Amino acid sequence: MTYEKLVEMAYEALEHAYTPYSNFNVGAALLTEEGKVFTGCNIECASYGGTNCAERTAIFKAVSEGYKKFKAIAVVGGSHNHTYPCGICRQVLNEFAPDIDIILDNQGELLVVNLKEMLPYAFGPSDLDK
Ligand code: THU
Repeated sequence: MTYEKLVEMAYEALEHAYTPYSNFNVGAALLTEEGKVFTGCNIECASYGGTNCAERTAIFKAVSEGYKKFKAIAVVGGSHNHTYPCGICRQVLNEFAPDIDIILDNQGELLVVNLKEMLPYAFGPSDLDK
């Protein structure tokens, strides 16, 4: 699986975004260590706090089907900039894959950023050890 193909799959997922409130569509494609891809889109809610980001949709789909080890995630949005994962999604990514590569696209300009750079000094599962 190439990062370019993962980005393509994220754009396909973006087509399913449900965004009547923000009209800002996001797509994600999450690559597992086994080579399987789970995609996700953002899903909004009239009670705004019920909104789920594209990244977490993909992660929750994967985890709910028994996949918890991830190599990379492509994230694309409908703006003229790279769409960076929000803080909550960074935290959820850190739960399962603190070393994951995050691939962002802006009109063919791919950026690869490791989660360790995006979420330094992270709080994670081992911080709960007593
Ligand atoms: N959004 C995502 O899906 N992922 C992010 O990391 C950034 C924000 C969505 C949430 C909401 O539906 C819309 O973008 C505007 O914030």
